[in-house]
Amino acid sequence: MENNFVLPLKELSPHLGGNIEDIDVREIGTAIPLESIKDALFRHQLLCFRDQRLEPEDLSNFTKLFGKPLPHVLQQFSLPGRPEIYVLSNIVENGEPIGNTREGFGWHTDLAYMAQPAAYTILYGIEVPEVAGDTLFASLYCMWDSMEEVVKSRLRKLQGRYSYNYLYSHRSNVDPLTAEQKARTPDVYHPFARLHPETRREGLYIGGDDFIAVEGSDDPNQDYTEIWQLFDETTNRFFYHHHWRVRDLLIWDNRGLIHTATDYDTESERRLVWRTSVVGEAPISSKE
Ligand SMILES: [Fe+2]
Repeated sequence: MENNFVLPLKELSPHLGGNIEDIDVREIGTAIPLESIKDALFRHQLLCFRDQRLEPEDLSNFTKLFGKPLPHVLQQFSLPGRPEIYVLSNIVENGEPIGNTREGFGWHTDLAYMAQPAAYTILYGIEVPEVAGDTLFASLYCMWDSMEEVVKSRLRKLQGRYSYNYLYSHRSNVDPLTAEQKARTPDVYHPFARLHPETRREGLYIGGDDFIAVEGSDDPNQDYTEIWQLFDETTNRFFYHHHWRVRDLLIWDNRGLIHTATDYDTESERRLVWRTSVVGEAPISSKE
């Protein structure tokens, strides 16, 4: 049976993303071979499964197919009894917000500020805005493949420095980090040229607003600007904009893309999205 399984996938864009209809993700690992899903994910970096009917336990089980769940630092927004499920929402119940309203704005890759950033991130849209509120993605692989060898070769020698404390200190309307949250997030260093641990594909790797410096260069200021130019070019050339349908389940591979949330009318629309992520490896450098 497994050998005959063909995943019904259509490309979402020329750069990244696959759309999958008519399968129930609760059957992955039994009727649907996990390897077919992973192969598709590695080929397209982002998969969208339409019309899923998931309870919290189903989302946790789906997450565990891909590795160890990685609970978010801000545990105050997790589902009760489910530290691995983080709630993104503008909904207020009994005077209390049920989730984080503003999370993920500005292009970034998830948890670059950790020594082992998230390998995968999963979002499940229970209530989504009819207008706007899209999640945007851009392919770091397409960017890398388009770059000249001389640039790649220089980047292979450099590392980025990432800081959660810096990132968090620039957010407004947030509680200060606790001592424990600070202790869990010291600055970290990652290669700009990163190898995927399973496919060995080489790609550009850069976080977002948690990226604060270039290490290993004679001219860090110039390199810093250049890295941001590469980042901008990625988002301008190799993007896909996902407009949410109710009960979309998205999974993406943070090793090959960057993404950002976008605004919607929080006064007239409701958004309720559950998010999980999966622990990744310490980024592997492709340094020669
Ligand atoms: Fe994110």
